[in-house]
Amino acid sequence: MIKRRIGNSDLNVFPIGLGAMGMSEFYGESDDEQSIRTLHKALELGVDFIDTADMYGTGHNEQLLARALKGRIKEITLATKFGIVREPEGKTVGLSGKPDYVKKACEASLKRLETDVIDLYYLHRVDPETPIEDTVGAMGELVKEGKVRYIGLSEVSGDTLKRAHAVHPITAVQSEYSIWTRDNEDANLAVCRELGVSTVAYSPLGRGYLTGTLATITDEKDYRASVPRTSGENLEINLKTVRTIEQMAAAKGVKSSQIALAWLLAQGEDIIPIPGTRREVYLIENIKAVDVALSKSELAELNKIAALVQGTRYSAAAMQSTLR
Ligand SMILES: NC(=O)c1ccc[n+]([C@@H]2O[C@H](COP(=O)([O-])OP(=O)(O)OC[C@H]3O[C@@H](n4cnc5c(N)ncnc54)[C@H](OP(=O)(O)O)[C@@H]3O)[C@@H](O)[C@H]2O)c1
Repeated sequence: MIKRRIGNSDLNVFPIGLGAMGMSEFYGESDDEQSIRTLHKALELGVDFIDTADMYGTGHNEQLLARALKGRIKEITLATKFGIVREPEGKTVGLSGKPDYVKKACEASLKRLETDVIDLYYLHRVDPETPIEDTVGAMGELVKEGKVRYIGLSEVSGDTLKRAHAVHPITAVQSEYSIWTRDNEDANLAVCRELGVSTVAYSPLGRGYLTGTLATITDEKDYRASVPRTSGENLEINLKTVRTIEQMAAAKGVKSSQIALAWLLAQGEDIIPIPGTRREVYLIENIKAVDVALSKSELAELNKIAALVQGTRYSAAAMQSTLR
């Protein structure tokens, strides 16, 4: 399959990337050796767009990538993020898009990643106390200094995106986007398209639930157990929507995960999903979604699902910093 170009940049990537977050945190225990094998397999198979953030495992995720990709990091399009501030022991203390923090965070990421340039550097969440123009101005200076190649934003409104783009071209917006979650379509997708900004679809598998392989999670270390959408009664209701995907997958002889990713790929050439996995077997399964074609009637069936989904995708407090 033809590669997808990220925004108006010279970054051309395999249409499905790899999210590394779960290799460090949020989805229960992880095993570095297993994650490293998965990262090596990604390179071997031509998956060349890898997503991390400074806050994933409070630095652990970037260090893990450096370890796994030693000497090869420049073979991939490396994306990382800053802006969610944590103490060294992991406590989240707030958001910062202040210019001096932008510079400090970038230096720290470069050091952990053991590289001299980040291909795509995103603001993870908008800092309500710092004008977006100031944050993006500082990110633009990083581009001038050669430390960053392109700039992205995550969880932004269309208005914020416009203001940011007026200061420095924005290449990608990272939004939660899946069969279950389509808030970005109203919030920023039209503006992304008007400005030629790609959408990098995060949590494209509904944090794993759209694959039909997850039931109720009780592990306290697993963040999904505390999210309204994936806990309690909401989960019971939401899992019913997954049955539609499973039936379609069975009828087509493919996996539910592949239906979920194929649906995203069908939304436009400007959409690049970054499914997360710690396992080689899932990585292999996920990239094969590029070969799954969905008919108009299948797409129409899948399009009905989002309206049936109950519960917010983050806690009430965390929802406040989304699409801002
Ligand atoms: N910008 C943001 O605010 C933001 C927020 C969240 C995530 N992200 C990024 O987006 C990436 C992806 O999102 P995500 O990890 O939250 O959610 P996701 O990709 O929707 O789902 C990940 C979950 O699905 C499981 N999985 C993956 N492939 C599977 C398959 N073929 N069959 C069955 N299960 C499968 C994974 O299991 P295993 O891990 O056990 O293999 C993991 O539990 C992250 O890694 C991160 O880089 C960004």
